[in-house]
Parts: sequence; structure tokens; C-alpha cells
Amino acid sequence: MIQAQKPDNQPETITPLDAAQNAPEDASLDQNLRPGKLADYVGQTAVKNNLSVVMSAAKQRNEVLEHVLLYGPPGLGKTTLAHIIAREMGSNIKITSGPAIERAGDLASLLTNLESGDVLFVDEIHRLNKAVEEVLYPAMEDYVLDIILGKGPGARSIRMELPRFTLIGATTRIGLLSSPLRDRFGATYRLEYYEQPELESIILRNAGILNAKIDAAAAGELAKRSRFTPRIANRLLKRIRDFAQVFGHDTITIPTAQKALDLLEVDALGLDKNDRRILDALINKFSGRPVGLNTLAAATGEEEDTITDIHEPFLIRLGLLVKTPKGRQATEAAYKHLGLTPPPASGQTALL
Ligand SMILES: Nc1ncnc2c1ncn2[C@@H]1O[C@H](COP(=O)(O)OP(=O)(O)O)[C@@H](O)[C@H]1O
Ligand SMILES: [Mg+2]
Repeated sequence: MIQAQKPDNQPETITPLDAAQNAPEDASLDQNLRPGKLADYVGQTAVKNNLSVVMSAAKQRNEVLEHVLLYGPPGLGKTTLAHIIAREMGSNIKITSGPAIERAGDLASLLTNLESGDVLFVDEIHRLNKAVEEVLYPAMEDYVLDIILGKGPGARSIRMELPRFTLIGATTRIGLLSSPLRDRFGATYRLEYYEQPELESIILRNAGILNAKIDAAAAGELAKRSRFTPRIANRLLKRIRDFAQVFGHDTITIPTAQKALDLLEVDALGLDKNDRRILDALINKFSGRPVGLNTLAAATGEEEDTITDIHEPFLIRLGLLVKTPKGRQATEAAYKHLGLTPPPASGQTALL
């Protein structure tokens, strides 16, 4: 934790930004800043184009939309898109998540409470357990629910019709989805990291919603440090707005943004302290050798999932880390970014 001095000498506490941690304020922030229409959903052009066709076709045929699977790193807009799809289809959306559906009966009651045309959004769908998944297969495929009554040899199964519905699944870990489940989605879309101008436009739009004045250059600086991720851009914007307010800056300019970002320990490339800790471990604890995921997790005190979902894709995208068959390795660019001298090229299999 870092303390900055307010003008009246009251210490203002600013917690470093942690990309992995979802601060409590983020949930309500996400709500406020979530675009409601496909037209306001920035970027992801291929996904939007495909979706509009699929949605229009379903509407023209007066059918429910086929099941949709959205995947990609956290904060790229999966939940937002699910809400938009429901809204564009004129459907109600019911929201749940993989870990929230503990037993087959929980899913059965969700499904039987749906109305025709409803969207059922299942976040973190890779975390559904096997028993629940098996109830989902016939529900997705034939809109039926098979209920087993009794146990042992006397058990019998009855089949119940379900209303036609659209399942929208979201996951950060497509690889963990069983193939029977994956195959039952009519459309699967991967959300990509955002480009700098896209993030800038999100930041400028959201600054308006948050009543924060920011100039274009500062928006650009913020976009550059947002890990290509709208949720992070929103979070940074909100923290910088607080900072500007406390220090009496009317408009967020580059110096204001830079000062706040320094306090948040977000560096010039957008790395937070945990990203740097991972690179530092690869370089210093393991002397640049390839390192397995569990070893890296133990050495940095991070969860394996946090490394694979949040830090790794970002560091790979920046070219600071590579995955080799032998493990993770810091690249020459990572050494340079941390102000270190890279080892001789022979030690850097990863750079080949
Ligand atoms: N394409 C987008 N255009 C504008 N804002 C976006 C977009 N995608 C995400 N956001 C912003 O980022 C926040 C987080 O997105 P969210 O849908 O919760 O991500 P995910 O579900 O993939 O973790 C949203 O509240 C919204 O403000
Ligand atoms: Mg989400």
C-alpha cells in the first residue's frame, strides 16, 4: 500500500492495482459502464458481425437463438455481450454460474422455470460438474429434461418438455470444457484483446458517464496501460478520477494520469506488481530457465489459475513471456523491461 499526501496533509490511501483481484466497487462499476446495445459495444468486429447475422436470421424465422459460447480472458466483455444478445433478441435473461449450480436438481429447477425464448446465461461454464452437465445435454439438444425417479433396479426415468431457450455460456478456459458440451453450442465466439484506439474510445465514453474530464492524450496513456482489457481501463479510469478529485485537478491530463498510475504501481506497459513478480521469479529465481506452472505458482504465491487466466495471456501478448514445451520463460524483452541484461542467446531457447 502506498500513501500519497493530500493537499491538507491527510494521507490518501491508494492500493496498487491488482489485475487479478476484483475489487468490490468493480461490480457496480461494471453495471454502470456496460453498453446496452450491440452498436455501443466497441471492437470485436468479427464477433459482432457474425452475431448480428445469426440473431437476424433467428428473428426472421421466428426461432429462438441457437446456444452461444463466449470465451476469452476476464474483463473483455463476455457478460456484457450476453446481456446485449438477450436485449437484442427481446428476451429475458436469467443469470447463473457453473459453481452456483451444485446439483442436477438445481439446474432442473432453473430450466423448468424458464419461459419460451428466455436466455439462460451460465458464467464460468467450465466449472459445471459432471452430473449437472449430463442434465444439460438433452436440455440443450432437444429441450427436454430427463428425470430419474427412485433408485436401483426400480428406478425409472420420465421425460419433461422444456420451453425453447438459448443458453449463453461464458468461460475463460475453453480447454476445460468437455467436448460433448462444447459441441452443443451452435455458435462459439472468442473475444480478443482490444486495440489501443478501441480502449481509448471506451475510456472517453465512460469518462462522460462518470462525469470525469479527461483529455485525449491522457485517455491514450490510460489505454496503453489497460492490459488491452476494458474492465481494467474502467478501473484505472475510476481510480484516476478519484486521484484527480482529491488533488484538485479539474481535468485528467497526462501528468495527473502518470502520477496516479505510478501510485497504483501500474508501469508503462500496464504491468502490475504481480506481473512483475512473475517475470522477476522467472529471471532471478530460476535464472531464465523454463519453469513449470506449479513451480511458478509456488514461487510467486499466485494461484495457478490466476497465472494462466490473467497474467500469462497478457505477458505473452506483450512478448515478455513465452510458453515452451519445457515451461514458461521470460523473453529478452522482459529482461529489458525490468532493466536487466539478458543472458547470452544460447540460454534463451524461448527466443528461437
Ligand atoms: N466491447 C466493449 N465495449 C465497451 N465496453 C466494454 C466492452 N467490453 C467490456 N466493456 C466494459 O468492461 C466491463 C467488463 O466487461 P464484462 O462483460 O464484465 O467482461 P467479462 O464478462 O468478459 O469478464 C463492462 O462493464 C464494460 O464497461
Ligand atoms: Mg463476466
